Amino acid sequence: MENEKEKITKKLPKITVKEKKKIIFLGSEAAPFIATGGLADVLGSLPKELAKKKNLDISVILPLYSIISQEFKSKFKFLINFNVSVGWRWQYAGVFYYEYEGVKFYFIDNEYYFKRDGNIYGFYDDGERFAFFSRACLDAIARLNIYPDILHCNDWQTASSIIFLKGMYYGDENFRRIKTIFTIHNIEYQGVFPLESFSNLFGFPDSIINYVEFSNTVNLMKGAIEMTDIVSTVSPTYAEEIKNSYYAHGLENIINRNANKLCGILNGIDVDNYNPANDKYLFKNYSVEDMEGKVVCKRELQKLLNLPIRDDVPIIAVISRLVSHKGLDLIKGIIEPLLSSDVQIVILGKGEISYENFFTNISNTYRGKCATVIAYNQDLSRKIYSGADIFLMPSKSEPCGLSQMIASRYGTVPIVRETGGLNDSIKAYNGESGNGCTFHDDNGHDILYVLNEAVSLYKDKDVRKKLVKTVMTTDFSWKNQAEKYENLYTK
Ligand code: GLC
Repeated sequence: MENEKEKITKKLPKITVKEKKKIIFLGSEAAPFIATGGLADVLGSLPKELAKKKNLDISVILPLYSIISQEFKSKFKFLINFNVSVGWRWQYAGVFYYEYEGVKFYFIDNEYYFKRDGNIYGFYDDGERFAFFSRACLDAIARLNIYPDILHCNDWQTASSIIFLKGMYYGDENFRRIKTIFTIHNIEYQGVFPLESFSNLFGFPDSIINYVEFSNTVNLMKGAIEMTDIVSTVSPTYAEEIKNSYYAHGLENIINRNANKLCGILNGIDVDNYNPANDKYLFKNYSVEDMEGKVVCKRELQKLLNLPIRDDVPIIAVISRLVSHKGLDLIKGIIEPLLSSDVQIVILGKGEISYENFFTNISNTYRGKCATVIAYNQDLSRKIYSGADIFLMPSKSEPCGLSQMIASRYGTVPIVRETGGLNDSIKAYNGESGNGCTFHDDNGHDILYVLNEAVSLYKDKDVRKKLVKTVMTTDFSWKNQAEKYENLYTK
């Protein structure tokens, strides 16, 4: 006879344990392994946040650049090797593995493509290097039998994974059921190559030429936008902006005709990594409860950069790649009038030679008021984020922008132009609410006006205190944003 317990158990619906949803990110850089820009920050922090969720299984595949530190490389475990078809050739690919902060990282090894001096981009054969990588990722997925539910590709370097997947690998049922997301971190860089490379370099089949061809070239970003299931970008405002020619760098029609699968999710930052309370790069740590350390950070920064040590003068900082879309011409136009008032200006960045020269010359002319350091320097950037009072980011366009969020975390009040992610993350202070200063038009009057406003807010101690507190406590963590990605994956 059945006992009571068995009877009850029989009546209950059978619960099947749901398998985790598998997501694989593909990208060309991810912190802390290899970082040259914002993409690395995102791929170093979003997967980590998602991996905290019990129902998700998160992997990232990266190229194994020789410049990844030996300290990391010595921990990577070799898994397999195979040959990858690149146009008319076959190239070696090795796969290494390392689990880091809950995320499974795979690295594609090929010294011919990834053992280069110094940089990770900017070589004559970048098209071939990333075509190889994109295809090797798919082949590694098959050989390791780690087919994901969702393949999440980022920027042009991994756009061709989507093109291969949808245009060549669909015969395989395991690949056919994979859904793809293509995230545009910056529409300016599209991966454009001569049309001849379509078959001889990329090895794309003729049947997909219409997707990939654009203005008589191979345009990888266009191909991915056309062929992917979802297109996302890194802020809601940018998702709207790229429908217009001013922002779309020629792709506005392509974006508009794919608008039904387009969404924008604002990036977050790794708030544990960027935390003034325990950041080891800072002269002294501090927090919103105890701001004493920020005063020390400011004085030490002034000392380091040969600026007069004064608590009462605001330091205005720019930390940026020195390229045109960061709005540097606006700064060029107003820097001398700005320097005629009682402020100090600090500039850190690398990029186009004309900007490097301009800002270096200005610093030489205005010694003791303006300091420029031409470098990409993590240590110094943290010392500036923490030591400055005002952070200037007047980008002409900015898909998301992370520096305004980092500066905020360190209690440095951001001034931004209302575009892209700057518009979504910083709201103008109006005496009550708001976490920074903003301006709309791309002109010198507006930026100078708002800079003066920021300086007068700074000079009013009570206002400054209130504003800095709001700025520091604005939530730029990945927590809420990762949830939005999770919803997207579930969809
Ligand atoms: C690109 C964009 C930048 C964004 C970053 C991460 O570098 O230019 O705005 O924050 O990608 O998505």
